[in-house]
Amino acid sequence: MNEVQLHIENVRQAAAKITAALGNLKPKIAIILGSGLGGLAKQVEAPVILAYKDLPGFPVLTVAGHAGQLIIGKLNDVPVIVLNGRKHFYETGDAYPLKTMIRAMKAAGVETLFLSNAAGSLRAPIKVSELMLITDHINFLGLNPLVGPNDDSFGPRFFPVADAWDKELGAKVKAVARQNGITLHEGVYVAFRGPSFETPAEIRMAQGWGGDAVGMSSVPDCLIARHCGMKVVGVSCITNMGAGLSDEKLSHAHTLENAAKGAGAFERLVLAAVKVL
Ligand code: HPA
Repeated sequence: MNEVQLHIENVRQAAAKITAALGNLKPKIAIILGSGLGGLAKQVEAPVILAYKDLPGFPVLTVAGHAGQLIIGKLNDVPVIVLNGRKHFYETGDAYPLKTMIRAMKAAGVETLFLSNAAGSLRAPIKVSELMLITDHINFLGLNPLVGPNDDSFGPRFFPVADAWDKELGAKVKAVARQNGITLHEGVYVAFRGPSFETPAEIRMAQGWGGDAVGMSSVPDCLIARHCGMKVVGVSCITNMGAGLSDEKLSHAHTLENAAKGAGAFERLVLAAVKVL
């Protein structure tokens, strides 16, 4: 089997395992939890947990704060799949684990992917521990996860991403935030490859490009999901100001610590949003 055939087989087998575990539940939404936002996983009612290591082709996780579990159950009475942990490009440069995870969601009947991440703010009004709805992105990863042979059964070789982040779903999330008194900014997410944080000069560049937040994830996930026809909505939890915009020293521990401060609002937002998405 070549790499592509192996991937297709992994998607098929992983989707079969997930479908079997779903039982009577028919989740239309899957939520990918970003760094430090794993607390939502504990809120899933009557959880059925599948470890990534038991799902063929799923990511093997190495970063602290990423659990590597697929959780099936209900949030606020709505059937969901929660993906607690995902692989970053900076770990391997290999997009197949992420592709397998997202395409298996699609094959299991999921229509909407709710992405979340920890991010640095590029604008003073977007403050640490606040949330930002992602309205668009800039892919500065130097990589696109869809480079390589295209399998038309997943999606077309060329596809538009003018509507990558779903406007209608975004408006619904905004409305839910308003109703629940949750501060939700909106803006453009700039994805850097990492694993180093940015330099102050890179942060000024990203500001000049019209970015509102910077991070190292979610853009590949969005592209893979849009390629196979899923809708995407996403929220960043602001864990710091971009490098040079404040005196704080950036580290993964700092990210996790501040994500925990925004996690309460994030969890309330998602719990309310799944009802209306
Ligand atoms: N840059 C990149 N990724 C991040 C940041 C940041 O400032 N904060 C959390 N993830």
